[in-house]
Amino acid sequence: MEIVVTLDQMRSWHDTWRRLGKTVALVPTMGALHAGHLALVTEAAKIVDKVVVSIFVNPLQFGPSEDFSRYPRDLAVDLEKLAQLGKTDVVFNPTVEIMYPSGASLTTVTVGEMSQVLCGQSRPTHFAGVTTVVTKLLHIVQPDVAVFGQKDAQQLAIIRQMVHDLNFPVKIVGVATVRESSGLALSSRNQYLSPAEKNQASYLYRGLTAAEELFRNGERRSRVLVAQVNNILASAELSAEYIECVDFESLCQVDIIERPATLALAAYVGPARLIDNITLDPGH
Ligand code: PAF
Repeated sequence: MEIVVTLDQMRSWHDTWRRLGKTVALVPTMGALHAGHLALVTEAAKIVDKVVVSIFVNPLQFGPSEDFSRYPRDLAVDLEKLAQLGKTDVVFNPTVEIMYPSGASLTTVTVGEMSQVLCGQSRPTHFAGVTTVVTKLLHIVQPDVAVFGQKDAQQLAIIRQMVHDLNFPVKIVGVATVRESSGLALSSRNQYLSPAEKNQASYLYRGLTAAEELFRNGERRSRVLVAQVNNILASAELSAEYIECVDFESLCQVDIIERPATLALAAYVGPARLIDNITLDPGH
């Protein structure tokens, strides 16, 4: 496993692989790797010859009062986990100066309204930060495939839209959320939680699965499903920032679910703002 820092080093790997006719996947991460990230790497390795994992805590996607400076960083531990998994060829770990040499990016990529709904309501600049850095990473690494977690359903839908709208020559692959036995979705931000808060946080998924059960029994009205999640959260003294049912692709609000939809939520548990979601597919 090679660790590269500069754009030239990364490009030279890319050129070598292209000459050899190898297919390449990029797994973009911000480090603090957990089993959810490793599932992305494992999936990538199944579908291509060479896997690049980028580790870059992207300042552009954090708001002024968010956790950029205290976001967990431990490169040595991340590299150890990737080495043990044995499926990564190159780790791309650029500095902020390499990614943003002029201090900020004058050119940004924004995916319209999709970036303003759900998490975009309280994090209005977040998704432009994500789509800008993902654009840069895709241009630098030039992969055939890029792999993202379904846990960040809004991010995944926005990236799919961007790649479609701007004709990026890359296939986007989504991978199912990895959960603890309590149901809590793995997240680097779970590190901020005490054991009691972790238990409270498990009610987020309990709420979603309670709504899923209603859906399986034929309930299609989104307001009933949302109310069900809300009740379960309230029983754990949690109040959500949002609980919404949106179209799986467009992220537009859905009243009656007739095609695949995402039931998504965000809530603060102690100091951590957590998100989670499930897919509701009337065809299955
Ligand atoms: O999902 C993440 O960790 C980040 O948003 C990403 C895609 C690596 C961009 O910084």
